[in-house]
Amino acid sequence: MADPRRGVDLCAAVAWGIIAFGAPALAAEKGDAARGQALYVEYCSQCHGGRGEGWGWGEKIPPPPVPIPDLSNAEHMRQLSDQYLFEIIKEGGEAVGKTRLMPAAGRVMNDGAIWDVIAYLRSLSRRVEAPRKQER
Ligand code: HEC
Repeated sequence: MADPRRGVDLCAAVAWGIIAFGAPALAAEKGDAARGQALYVEYCSQCHGGRGEGWGWGEKIPPPPVPIPDLSNAEHMRQLSDQYLFEIIKEGGEAVGKTRLMPAAGRVMNDGAIWDVIAYLRSLSRRVEAPRKQER
């Protein structure tokens, strides 16, 4: 009991516990980015572009009357919490004070799938070296 090394071991154990169990709580790790990508391509890319950069200009329909945020912009994405992303994706723009032009995905995706999409979104802005499209 009086062995001082025991205290050190305990500190180390607590520290490792924080590293091991605290880190995954950082939300992007809740989901699977690879699965999220498939969902993104199916449900989001027509409006947000192939890599989150904005309107998919390949589409023949005109862009919506509000600007589409650049989901691949690290500076911008850093300001958006995971909770916010979850809410707007699940409930749609109106749920967070934006417009309904951002549709709710809760009908077609369960919570796990939404976290997968969020993990993918986070990976878009982490890939800073990805070539940016020049169209804007
Ligand atoms: C019909 C077009 C459309 C589709 C489909 C769509 N979005 Fe959006 N999204 C928008 C528009 C428009 C906005 C901006 C709304 C506003 O400013 O009122 C937006 C906003 C967002 C935002 C908020 C970003 C910010 O800066 O606040 C996120 C995150 C987002 N969309 C993610 C997604 C994801 C993920 C999907 C697929 C599940 C998706 N969107 C599908 C049109 C779309």
